[in-house]
Amino acid sequence: MAARTETQRNGRRRSTTSPDPQMDASAPPIQAFGTLRSLPIGLSDKAKTSSCTALNEILADSMVLYALYKKNHWLVAGPTFYQLHLLFDKHAEEQAEIIDVLAERVQSLGGIAVGDPRHAAELTTIPRPPDGAEEVAVMIDRTLRAHETVIKKVRTAITTTEESEDWGSNDVLMSDVLRRHELQVWFLAEHVVDVPLVTS
Ligand SMILES: [Fe+2]
Repeated sequence: MAARTETQRNGRRRSTTSPDPQMDASAPPIQAFGTLRSLPIGLSDKAKTSSCTALNEILADSMVLYALYKKNHWLVAGPTFYQLHLLFDKHAEEQAEIIDVLAERVQSLGGIAVGDPRHAAELTTIPRPPDGAEEVAVMIDRTLRAHETVIKKVRTAITTTEESEDWGSNDVLMSDVLRRHELQVWFLAEHVVDVPLVTS
């Protein structure tokens, strides 16, 4: 317990212990990005490092894809506005869940998860969209391409985590990431299929 000193002021005893938050904390990082903590999970450092690198790249892309979905959610326009407005938001929420799973997997391996969106922007390979609004078909095309960028990295990471026997990451990539991406691609792609509405 912190020592409490008291002083006399205006005839009253006054404690110098303050209820205010201490806002002057400053220290260098306790773990650098790209390094590992020694968590006893029976996996080699080589395997952990390889998995953390791959997971962080997919995490960075997922953060960018999440932002792309929210942008779509806000800027979508036209006769399909309502259903796409809702669908884009649903997909964004699902990407947010994937982001959390990937980040916590990196931490479980003893690594450092990408957290700052500016860090993610440095790592992602998904092209930046224009700041303005795009037509719905262009919006969907851009999002489908972003999905495929991520899916290709996920497939590669599934192979490398199998080779290194990092089954925890392998399961996350297959069960939580790949299948969700494939499902989102299906739901999105159905909106750009050129089929008649009523007559054939
Ligand atoms: Fe909203």
